[in-house]
Amino acid sequence: MSNVLIHTKELTKRYGTFTAVDSLNLTVKAGEIYGFLGPNGSGKTTTIRMLTGLLDATAGEAFICGYNIATEASQAKSLLAYVPDHPRLYGKLSAREFLALIAALYRIPKEIAGERAEQLLHLFGLSDRADDLLEGYSHGMRQKVVVAAALLHQPRVILLDEPTAGLDPASARLLKDVLQQMAAQGAAVFVSTHILEIAERMCHRVGILKQGRLIAEGSTDELRQLTGSEGESLEDIFLELTGTNETAEIIKSLEEGDKR
Ligand SMILES: Nc1ncnc2c1ncn2[C@@H]1O[C@H](COP(=O)(O)OP(=O)(O)OP(=O)(O)O)[C@@H](O)[C@H]1O
Ligand SMILES: [Mg+2]
Repeated sequence: MSNVLIHTKELTKRYGTFTAVDSLNLTVKAGEIYGFLGPNGSGKTTTIRMLTGLLDATAGEAFICGYNIATEASQAKSLLAYVPDHPRLYGKLSAREFLALIAALYRIPKEIAGERAEQLLHLFGLSDRADDLLEGYSHGMRQKVVVAAALLHQPRVILLDEPTAGLDPASARLLKDVLQQMAAQGAAVFVSTHILEIAERMCHRVGILKQGRLIAEGSTDELRQLTGSEGESLEDIFLELTGTNETAEIIKSLEEGDKR
């Protein structure tokens, strides 16, 4: 079997005449953590939703572990996990009940599911609150429940949309460790983030999206060579490539205007 676990071919999403994702070609291999970067509105969430099969592509194809997400959806979906940017949870369930529900959806045998759920609740520090209703959970606690639910069926591909938003530093570190461990065990991790420091430290490769197009891809070192910016942070490279450095220039000129 090929070790390419995520593959897109000319993947495109149009809304009317507006192209949100434009002919995207990318591959992520087993063991790889791929960081998906790009300014607000550049098409990250749209791409991730197409990879999960929740959103139909206008053109092009996406494959999860070799299965076409449109025509072999059940095989593809059984192998992937998705952590959305704004997860919806059933407020009237406890975390323990929610994990049992997700395990049942994935047809994980009850005893195995129970054991795994307890391990994950413990890992994310939720054991003490596991019988409380989710409606009473804080944002970060909910986020951890969603990640725990995503890990229950031991996916080969995990897609996460800004998973560290709202997590405290210890939880963000924990998530990073968990994702690294999953990759070490052969999963492909695809993660969108605005926190470039995390991307730089955690991801083997990053892709930068701008107005729906992949404008650069590679390891941080490779991107440095591309921009000829030795010693610069990923943040500098990102701002240079996406052209959002203009904002800094405008602010600077405003400040200079103030001084005059
Ligand atoms: N249902 C929709 N109808 C029309 N346009 C949409 C729809 N969903 C997304 N878009 C547009 O597609 C573009 C990409 O949106 P998307 O949510 O993928 O961006 P993003 O990179 O995830 O941004 P952010 O960093 O803010 O999360 C945006 O211009 C958005 O307005
Ligand atoms: Mg988004």
